[in-house]
Amino acid sequence: MTQPLIPIDQCPIQIEDDRTGTNVETLKRAFADNLFYLQGKYESLATQDDFYMALAYTLRDRLLSRWLKTTKTYMEKDVKVVYYLSAEFLMGRHMGNSLINLHLYDRVRQAVEESGLDLDEILEHEPDPGLGNGGLGRLAACFVDSLATLEIPAVGYGIRYEFGIFTQAIRDGWQAEVPDKWLRFGNPWEIAHPDQAVEVKLGGHTEMYHNEKGEYKVRWIPANRVVGIPYDTPVPGYDTNTVNPLRLWRAEASDDFNFDAFNAGNYDGAVAEKMRSETISKVLYPNDNTPQGKQLRLEQQFFFVSCSLQDIIRTHLLRHPSLHNLHDTAAIQLNDTHPAVAIAEMMRLLMDEHEMDWNTAWRVTQKTFSYTNHTLLPEALEKWSVGLFEYLLPRHLEIIYEINRRFLEDVKRWYPGDDNLISRLSLIDESGEKYVRMANLACVGSHAVNGVAALHTQLLKQDTLRDFYRLWPGKFINKTNGVTPRRWILMCNPKLAELYNSKIGEGWLKDLSQLKQLEKYVDDPDFCQQWREIKLHNKRQLAQYIWEHNGIEVDPHSMFDIQVKRIHEYKRQHLNLLHIIALYNQIKQNPDQHIVPCTFIFGGKAAPGYFMAKLIIKLTNSVADVINHDPDVRGRLKIVFLNNFNVSLGQRIYPAADLSEQVSTAGKEASGTGNMKFAMNGAMTIGTLDGANIEIREEAGEENFFLFGLTAQEVADTKAKGYNPRDYYSSNPSLKAVIDRIAAGYFSHGDKELFKPLVDSLMYHDQYMLFADYQAYVDCHKQVSKTYSDQDKWTRMSILNALRMAKFSSDRTIREYCNEIWNVQPVPIEMEEYSQENA
Ligand code: G1P
Repeated sequence: MTQPLIPIDQCPIQIEDDRTGTNVETLKRAFADNLFYLQGKYESLATQDDFYMALAYTLRDRLLSRWLKTTKTYMEKDVKVVYYLSAEFLMGRHMGNSLINLHLYDRVRQAVEESGLDLDEILEHEPDPGLGNGGLGRLAACFVDSLATLEIPAVGYGIRYEFGIFTQAIRDGWQAEVPDKWLRFGNPWEIAHPDQAVEVKLGGHTEMYHNEKGEYKVRWIPANRVVGIPYDTPVPGYDTNTVNPLRLWRAEASDDFNFDAFNAGNYDGAVAEKMRSETISKVLYPNDNTPQGKQLRLEQQFFFVSCSLQDIIRTHLLRHPSLHNLHDTAAIQLNDTHPAVAIAEMMRLLMDEHEMDWNTAWRVTQKTFSYTNHTLLPEALEKWSVGLFEYLLPRHLEIIYEINRRFLEDVKRWYPGDDNLISRLSLIDESGEKYVRMANLACVGSHAVNGVAALHTQLLKQDTLRDFYRLWPGKFINKTNGVTPRRWILMCNPKLAELYNSKIGEGWLKDLSQLKQLEKYVDDPDFCQQWREIKLHNKRQLAQYIWEHNGIEVDPHSMFDIQVKRIHEYKRQHLNLLHIIALYNQIKQNPDQHIVPCTFIFGGKAAPGYFMAKLIIKLTNSVADVINHDPDVRGRLKIVFLNNFNVSLGQRIYPAADLSEQVSTAGKEASGTGNMKFAMNGAMTIGTLDGANIEIREEAGEENFFLFGLTAQEVADTKAKGYNPRDYYSSNPSLKAVIDRIAAGYFSHGDKELFKPLVDSLMYHDQYMLFADYQAYVDCHKQVSKTYSDQDKWTRMSILNALRMAKFSSDRTIREYCNEIWNVQPVPIEMEEYSQENA
């Protein structure tokens, strides 16, 4: 007799113990199994890479039951899902994160050690996937971590770049860019789903036709089609069963190759189309805050947006007969304007492919989307030439024109006769060559617009987006950034985490405000001693890394003064250098004067096309060369440029810092997130009143923050009055001496030309007002040195900084997005017994 059929997902599957079990013996067996069956190696012949892959598969297996159960629960419960659209996700390494979130660190370490291997070496072997440029991409990664931890149904959508951000090498002091082949040995964390591939159209033209009901409709006849293949990476929450997907799209040609051309002997032609299509997901576009690389960049943006929206619609239609209630099941967040073309693509999909009328489609679109702005720099506000748009996305341009026509009609009714207002609000910039303004599109098509720190949102309202704010004040809302304490405390600073755990248990990892309870220890000598020992331990480890990688010996007892972030003139790494040279000048004048020994550490990448940023790197290394080798300095100042700053290097750096440099020109840094990571790990901040620095200072207490420099208002006023950097140069002997030393070729073997562009830019423009802030910065550093000399005081300040950073947990940020923008609720995932076994 045949058995009755049971639907596959209701089968009482006995998942193999080796795939889910978590006792040490099972883990060892699973690891050996994967090495043999997946890597095809005997242990004696296996490489580090094989060990890494085998262990990664072992962990992925242990995530899978939760992952599938999460997806199943979302489908069954028909929940509202957050879709986070971002051109960048800077996830960092997965293995350590999985070990922590699965609570398997100790058992896996034991299993690996009993197999005769070293877990730290295996962890170090994982490539750091660099699918982002800096803060924006890392924010997206912290957000998906918090979403999963808070049990919020969410999908991160982005691009599976074959090459992430370049690997930065330093040659003769200059940045050299080396391609990042992060997928070379395969990626054990992802699962491809070619069955869910979608087609993306590009180019061509549109035509009108009558549908069956006799209505006028528009059809897009594309010139090209590309296929998007989704690759899913599990994003496990901490201490929950939730595992959400990060779904990244890879572009593939719709036909593998042209057989006719191949048969005719035209081999290049036969694969040309394939190569062209696949270029779309080839390489991460560098962020240099200028709209460049136009066509490919727009193709990338549209590609991942179209794939993602089609996927969202498909998911919705699995549970609902129509798309009229899409906003009840989907909240789509635009991470900056990179995915803003989604507004037009959603309108096209709803109207042209799902027969919705304009008004309904527009209502659904606006209710579904929200937009985060990440920058005030005018040159970074994306715009695309109308010609390019028409060539690549002819239908979308028509839709944008129509959105604009309707929108401007409204504005004319609200503010009759204000033509300037109309031209500023228009989605099309018509001041010269015509452009589509993506930020305007995002504002009009979203129900919420947010900045990423209080000052930033305020400046958006009063400056960058003030006309939109006037129209819809209720749309604008602040969401100060945050970072995940799992990666940025527990994972990177295990000794600090241990100290916290020993006093208050592990609850702080999901509720950072619990750290406040530790303030009672701030005057406890034992606690302070432990605090100092942890910092020293972390500094020793970084010193060791510096020795191994840069061949520079640094003293772990010196003050570690650190600036790591993308290199950009507004972030003012060169202000830091001016101060270092000023200290050097003092030593040269009086070699015996007392000076607090200090190690200045820099790290960060410059966009390959950004000459001035690259020159700042060269200057850093040149200054380091001279100062590190000058016998008068007697090792009291050391300068180190750590090449290839990325997430995993960040994990070594933040816990080892005494001082965090956050010195951007006030009003330029939207928020910053490195500032939060430093403070959480007990570094003191020297900073301007910019971005989230302001809120960090509020939380830590004014007395625990080294503040200097002009405010955003003062920057604006000083500019308005006619800022002349040469006035500062001629009236400040210390500044003059510093600039003269650079200009004289002191750091360039007498070559006066090398740094001339930088010197001239400061002397004649100084767009970011280094000279105006110079003296305040130097004076503030004196205060820092004095305080550092009093170690008891410093320790107290350091402790209070770390304990008062609860506001900057990305859990807090995500809760606010959920309640105030997305309107989504947590959905706990219940697991059957088998996942708990052996626990
Ligand atoms: C950008 C902003 C930065 C902000 C980050 C995340 O990062 O400039 O202030 O904290 O987005 O919102 P960046 O690309 O400069 O690293």
